[in-house]
Amino acid sequence: MILRLATILVALATAAPIAAQAPGPDPRPTYHFTPARNWLNDPNGLVYYEGEYHLFYQYNPHGDRWGHMSWGHAVSRDLVHWQELPVAIPETDVMAFSGSAVIDWKNSSGFGRDGKPAMVAIFTGHDPKAKNQSQYVAYSNDRGRTFTRYGKVLDIGSSEFRDPKVFWHEPTKRWVMVVLMAAENRAMIYTSPDLKQWQYASSFGPAGGRGRYWECPDLFELPVEGGAPGEKRWVLSINLGDNAVGGGSGGQYFVGDFDGTRFTPVPGWGSEPQWMDYGADFYAAISWNDLPKNDPRRIWIGWANDWRYAESIPTYPSRGAMSVPRTVALRKTAEGYRIAQAPVRELQALRGSKRETKVTLGETPVDLPIEGGAVELQVDLDTGTAEQVAIALTDGQGYQTLIGVNPTVNEVFIDRTRSGPYFHNGFANRHVAPVDLSGRKVSLRVLVDESIIELFINDGTQTITDRFFRGGGPLRWSVSARGGTASMNATAWPLS
Ligand code: FRU
Repeated sequence: MILRLATILVALATAAPIAAQAPGPDPRPTYHFTPARNWLNDPNGLVYYEGEYHLFYQYNPHGDRWGHMSWGHAVSRDLVHWQELPVAIPETDVMAFSGSAVIDWKNSSGFGRDGKPAMVAIFTGHDPKAKNQSQYVAYSNDRGRTFTRYGKVLDIGSSEFRDPKVFWHEPTKRWVMVVLMAAENRAMIYTSPDLKQWQYASSFGPAGGRGRYWECPDLFELPVEGGAPGEKRWVLSINLGDNAVGGGSGGQYFVGDFDGTRFTPVPGWGSEPQWMDYGADFYAAISWNDLPKNDPRRIWIGWANDWRYAESIPTYPSRGAMSVPRTVALRKTAEGYRIAQAPVRELQALRGSKRETKVTLGETPVDLPIEGGAVELQVDLDTGTAEQVAIALTDGQGYQTLIGVNPTVNEVFIDRTRSGPYFHNGFANRHVAPVDLSGRKVSLRVLVDESIIELFINDGTQTITDRFFRGGGPLRWSVSARGGTASMNATAWPLS
């Protein structure tokens, strides 16, 4: 009992001064998408059409907490600058939960008009009274500006049946829908000739997958870098509603084959699911349908928040942000098939003048020549004889977030134990990616945007995405090594 009391007192003593402080400067991200007002969660309906990248998203038009779920809408011509548009699909008798959008090029649905294809949204209608979730279709003939509800297209009488991802499968000339029986950890696959009539094809799961319930799937094919000539594989990504990644939210992916009706994981290699991100704040990522012609990339975007504190972090005055758009590639490595993520190259347009540093690191922190809270930093690190190397983001008022490398235990981490009051909720604040550091070398690409860190490790083979906060002072960057010396080459750009 005495021991318990002592522990509580110590906890109060360390947590209280930070928790008592004001949230600090406006933590609104500058180059990550945020709506002007109100609440945002998952990206929805990512589709490209006539020069515009569409980003729809879970949105509450009436407040800065979850509720009245509707599809918000923003468009961009370059994946960097976003223009927010009026709500695309409002709540009616059902809330408009997550889903996807396609361009019906062949007018299979008959929704097209004047020889032009319709943009068709497929989303989950959530009926809280009837405790039912079923799949709905709405279409637009004016580049996503207004949608007409066609109605319900798939109802199996379930309260946990959601988040359809739909795409065209050319070899079978069918639309494919991957949709989740969330509480059963099961992905259901349906096919359709016209986006209206859907036929059950197969199911997949839990298949060694993790999570108490599954949300927001995606399924896409990628060429395999380092694979057999011409090798292509399918990635099935699934987000976990129970915060399973090192205490974060996030998701997992399977690698396998898909014949238009059934997903089969590659036996041995690839059947074990891998984490999409090792941080807390990359959730519900889905990829764009229909990129511009001759653009072979796969690009996705995730919600840069974690359900456990998304409603309690400061508003600015909207609440919620997207990650940056990221390319997703697939590589064959000694361990198996692994995705690799990178910020889209378009973001380089934001770079200001470059500052380079070459430095030997020891116990005494070295200031990095970085100003401000919107920064890209590229680091090539040789950990030398050091036990730990850490980049510290501080504000001179006691807040501190660490981006660190620990070669003795093969870890790259973000530590936000002291990153603001919102994280003192008893969940893991240190997020770790296991990285082979036996060669002592690692490369880090860090995107910081006021209250978001996106960390790409070794060419994006692993990522850690975390929110962080600070007190009133401007953000300062320094780096030090513990237990020995290390050397670092760093290039930094302010982003604006
Ligand atoms: C995931 C999720 C989805 C659902 C949506 C509701 O974050 O729970 O499963 O469709 O949010 O806003």
